[in-house]
Amino acid sequence: MNDGLATVSYIGATILFVLSLGGLSNPETSRRGNLYGMIGMALAVLATVFGPKVTAAGIPFIVGAMAVGGTIGVYAARTVQMTQMPELVALMHSLVGLAAALVGFASYFDPSSNLVGAEKAIHEMEIYIGILIGAVTFSGSLIAFGKLNGKIGGSPLLLPGRHWMNLTGLLVVIWFGREFLNAHTIEAGMTPLIVMTVIALLFGIHMVMAIGGADMPVVVSMLNSYSGWAAAATGFMLSNDLLIVTGALVGSSGAILSYIMCKAMNRSFISVIAGGFGTGSGKPAPKGDAAQPAGEVAPITSAETAELLRDAKSVIIVPGYGMAVAQAQHTVFEITKLLREKGVNIRFGIHPVAGRMPGHMNVLLAEAKVPYDIVMEMDELNDDFPATDVAMVIGANDIVNPGAQDDPSSPIAGMPVLEVWKAKTSIVMKRSMASGYAGVDNPLFYKDNNRMLFGDAKKMLDEVLMALKA
Ligand code: TAP
Repeated sequence: MNDGLATVSYIGATILFVLSLGGLSNPETSRRGNLYGMIGMALAVLATVFGPKVTAAGIPFIVGAMAVGGTIGVYAARTVQMTQMPELVALMHSLVGLAAALVGFASYFDPSSNLVGAEKAIHEMEIYIGILIGAVTFSGSLIAFGKLNGKIGGSPLLLPGRHWMNLTGLLVVIWFGREFLNAHTIEAGMTPLIVMTVIALLFGIHMVMAIGGADMPVVVSMLNSYSGWAAAATGFMLSNDLLIVTGALVGSSGAILSYIMCKAMNRSFISVIAGGFGTGSGKPAPKGDAAQPAGEVAPITSAETAELLRDAKSVIIVPGYGMAVAQAQHTVFEITKLLREKGVNIRFGIHPVAGRMPGHMNVLLAEAKVPYDIVMEMDELNDDFPATDVAMVIGANDIVNPGAQDDPSSPIAGMPVLEVWKAKTSIVMKRSMASGYAGVDNPLFYKDNNRMLFGDAKKMLDEVLMALKA
């Protein structure tokens, strides 16, 4: 493939990536978005492998590496549970970071590089920054992976003077950057490069270790953004325009997503990075604390739930992480279909951080074929709860916690929540009184108009469905 054809293919792939991102912004167009992305990526890989920069002798190595990587990728994609998706994504980000760091070292050693003067300085700056971002992304993503799958505890590690440690690390990195640029030989440049890499690896570990469980979603999307910038840096090192553009697209969309999630959790981006919030243990909050609501909860049976639903004119379903764990979405759809046939106005309220990854609930509901027009964002229907007969909470907890509004001392104070307690009756479906991801108790459970339907969401919904059909 000649230079011209490769460039045209790269432009085509770039356009397809932009169209892909546009498509992924809406559930109705997301399949098309995915397709654009896949075609774009295939085009990009083909244009690179058969492009002018790869010799025929290199092709078997590339094809071999792609076969191994592709097999691992297909295996991982087929076996991973939906709820394990964030940890898989974190692991993938670590690989992007590792690749950027390795490409940085390889470009530095490259014997064919004959750059001089300003061009050499710019290239070395690209290498230094590329390895820096790559190493932070690599170690930070590995720690995020460990925290998300529970191998590393969710509590934030708060070392004394940690902000000063980070600042000192930054100054040392800048100092060694100067040394690196002033080095006249590759050997002389290696010491500052290795010292910086070690500091960057330690910084990545420290940064994510200091972040509590409740902020992990933001961290994963922030690492997604870093992996994009790491890819863009790799693009600069390899003079590959497509990698620069693609990396910048991933980097900026990850940054926008982090911002949206921070807003949804009422956290400032800086306070997330500074760390220290949330234990993420998922265990019941300790009893006896002044902030803990006390009182009795009122249980309800599946038959009574079916009765309430049958008599309702309007119902809002709020799904959460527990619906994903129980894989209850198909039964939820069956119930929705039945109630709609009976003329009940039934809608879904989706919190931006419901579940364990952005869009988690939308994906599950789309898989179960719930019509998109009854799946609403939190802001679209939060005012409708007072006019709602039944608010049915399926395996959600933090996202319906009134303490976020009423209790300034709550760790989730200020996080916007779905105001299900304003409905005539709210029904919370979960297995026990255990807390959710943020590890805080939920005053909703003790409200007079709230009922608890205890049990696995799928099992309880199957029972409700049977009672509705009876
Ligand atoms: P959570 O607050 O985590 O609550 C989920 C509830 O589901 C738990 O209290 C659990 O109670 C229940 N549950 C678990 N398995 C169940 C099953 N088989 N059947 C029925 N119930 C089950 O979830 P949420 O309300 O969706 O809120 C999301 C939380 O996760 C937020 O704090 C958010 O910040 C955080 N987070 C979000 C993301 C993204 S991007 N969405 C990523 C990571 C973390 P029982 O054990 O008593 O059943």
